[in-house]
Amino acid sequence: MIQLNETPKAASAKLVAWVKEWAAICEPDALYWCDGSRAEYDRLCEEQIKSGLAIRLNPKKRPNSLLFRSDPSDVARVEKRTFIASEKQEDAGPTNNWIAPAELKKTMLGLYKGCMHGRTLYVIPFSMGPVGSKIAKIGVELTDSAYVVINMIVMTRVGTKVLETLGNGEFVPCVHSVGKPLAKGESDNGKWPCAPMEQKYIAHFPETREIWSYGSGYGGNALLGKKCLALRIATVQARDEGWLAEHMLILKLTNPKGEVKYVTGAFPSACGKTNLAMLIPTLKGWKVETVGDDISWMKFDEEGRLRAINPEAGFFGVAPGTSMKSNPNAMLSCSKDTIFTNVALTDDGDVWWEGIGVDAPAHLIDWKGNDWKPGQVDADGNPVKAAHPNARFTARACNCPAIAPEWEDPNGVPISAFLFGGRRPSTLPLIYQARDWEHGVFIGSTVGSEVTAATLDVKVGTVRRDPFAMLPFCGYHMGDYFAHWLKIGEKGAAKGNLPKIFCVNWFRKNAEGKFMWPGFGDNSRPLAWVFGRCAGTADGVDTAIGVLPTPESIDLTGIEDQVSKEDLAKLLSVDVEGWKKELAMIKEHYAKFGSKLPKALVKQLETLEARLG
Ligand code: GTP
Ligand code: SPV
Ligand code: MN
Repeated sequence: MIQLNETPKAASAKLVAWVKEWAAICEPDALYWCDGSRAEYDRLCEEQIKSGLAIRLNPKKRPNSLLFRSDPSDVARVEKRTFIASEKQEDAGPTNNWIAPAELKKTMLGLYKGCMHGRTLYVIPFSMGPVGSKIAKIGVELTDSAYVVINMIVMTRVGTKVLETLGNGEFVPCVHSVGKPLAKGESDNGKWPCAPMEQKYIAHFPETREIWSYGSGYGGNALLGKKCLALRIATVQARDEGWLAEHMLILKLTNPKGEVKYVTGAFPSACGKTNLAMLIPTLKGWKVETVGDDISWMKFDEEGRLRAINPEAGFFGVAPGTSMKSNPNAMLSCSKDTIFTNVALTDDGDVWWEGIGVDAPAHLIDWKGNDWKPGQVDADGNPVKAAHPNARFTARACNCPAIAPEWEDPNGVPISAFLFGGRRPSTLPLIYQARDWEHGVFIGSTVGSEVTAATLDVKVGTVRRDPFAMLPFCGYHMGDYFAHWLKIGEKGAAKGNLPKIFCVNWFRKNAEGKFMWPGFGDNSRPLAWVFGRCAGTADGVDTAIGVLPTPESIDLTGIEDQVSKEDLAKLLSVDVEGWKKELAMIKEHYAKFGSKLPKALVKQLETLEARLG
C-alpha cells in the first residue's frame, strides 16, 4: 500500500492506529487523508470524470457540477439490509433488523477482508454541526469511494480543522466499502461499483457507537454522517444524555410584523421536508428561511427551551418534482457546485427530471444511460421515467438563497413548534394541534404515510406507520424512544417553554384522486396558523382528535379559486368513520411494542376512542 499524502499532524495516535488496523483488513492499494480543501474536491471530481463514473455538466448551464449514474440495483436506502446490532435483541426492538454484534462483525469482517484491492482508502474526518459547537459531534469515515468523499465534503464539515478540534477526543468510527474489490489491472470501466443485495450491510453497533457499511455506494447507506451517525447512533446518545436527534427540517418563520418563530417538522422520506424548509410564502408579508432540511439535534437551554442545530452542511434533496414553481430555492441551491445522481442528461449537457417544470426535450439520456424520448413506454406499456424517482442533488447549504443567517449558530435556534405529518390521501385533516405534550407524543408515535421511492425494499404507495418519521432511523427500541419523548416533556414542563405540537397533511386527495390542497408555497397558510397558536392569537376548536383551526383562521386570500370554502371545510373536518378505521390501525401498530408501550400513550388511545364515540 502506498500512502498518497502525509498523515496530518493533528491526527491522534488512536486515530492513526485505527486507520492502520482497517487498512490491514481491507488491503487498499493506496491510503489518502482528506483535508476537505477545494483543490482536493476538484481533483477527485476530475478523477471521477476520467474514470467514466461522472460526467461534467455544461459549465455555462450548471457551473462546477457533475452527474453520476448509480447501478440500477443501488438507488436508495435498503431497510432490509440495515441492522441495529445491540448486545440484546430486545434493545433493537420490533422495528429494527437485528443480528448479534459478534456474529455480524464476523460476517462483515469476512467481507471486508481484501475488499479494497485496486482502490484507495480515503480517511474523512468530519464534524456534524459547526466545528467546535458544543452540540456538534465528530466522526471519521473510511471509504473506498471518491463519490462518497465529494458528497461528504458538501454534506458535512470535512478537514484538518476537525482533527485539530478532535485532538485526543472521542470520534464515531465509520467504516464504508462499496464491496467491489478489483483484480490486478481491472478497472470499474465507468460502472458504479457495489455488491449484490445479499452482501449489503448497513450496520450500527449502538453500545460501542460504531458504524460499518458494506456493499452500497448510495446516499444514506454510504454517507455515514447522515442517517447512520446523525440519527441512528445519535438517537442512542440523545436517549442517554437527555436530548433529541430527529428526522426534522428546521425553518425560521417571520410574520408581517417582523416577529420570528422557529419551527421543525418531521415527515417521512420524500414527504416534503426540503420543500417546507425552503418555501416561499404565498401569504403576503410572511417570510420563511431555511436552517435545515432533514435532521435536527435539540438540547434544552437554561430557560428550558429546546434549541436546534442542523448537523449537516448541505442538502441531499429529491430531484423529481422540484421546479422553479414548487421550490425555487432548491432549484437555485443546485444551480451550481452540485453533484447530481440518477437524473437525466440533456443533449446540451444539463439535467432534466420529471416535474422540473419544463417539458422534456426531444432527446435525453436517461438515468440508466440509455437514449430516451418523451412518451417512451416499456414492454408492458408503462411510461419509462427519465430520472429515477429517488434521483437526488447534493448541494451546499450556503448556495441556498433562503438560508437563514443564523443557520450555523453553534447555540442553535429556539423551537416554538413541532409538526408531524405524512402522505395521507384520506382521513387526516390539513392541520390540527395536539392538546398537550402527551397528546403530541401520541400523534408523533402514530404517524402514517404512503411509502415513497426513498426506500428500496418496501412497496411504494402502501400506507405504513412511520412514528416520528423515524421508523428507519431509530437506533434502539421504538417503545423506549416514545418513553424518551415523554420524559423530555416532563423535563421541559417545569419551565413552560416546550414547543407546541401539530399534525399536518398536505396530501389529502378528492374522489378524482387529485390533491385537495395546493401545498408548497401555500403551506405558509397553515404555518401562519401555527405561528398564531404559539403567539396565542389564532382560533381553534377542540374536537375528538385535537384542536382544529376555525375555517376563518386559515387565510385563503388569493387562492379562493383553487380551494373552495367547501373544500376547506372538508380539509378541516373530523371524518369519524375514517378515524374509527385509523383507530384499528393504530391498535395494530401499538400491539408491536408490548410492555414497552408507555401507559400514557395507551391512555391517549383510549381517550381518542372514547371521544370518537
Ligand atoms: P428526504 O430527503 O427523503 O428525507 O425527503 P423530504 O421530506 O425532504 O422530501 P421533499 O421535500 O424532497 O419532497 C419530496 C416530494 O414531495 C417531491 O416530489 C415534492 O414535489 C413533493 N412535495 C413536497 N411538498 C409538497 C406539497 O406541499 N404538496 C404536494 N402535493 N407535494 C409535495
Ligand atoms: C431519506 O431517505 O430520508 C433521505 C435520503 O434523506 S438518504 O440520505 O438516502 O437517507
Ligand atoms: Mn431524510
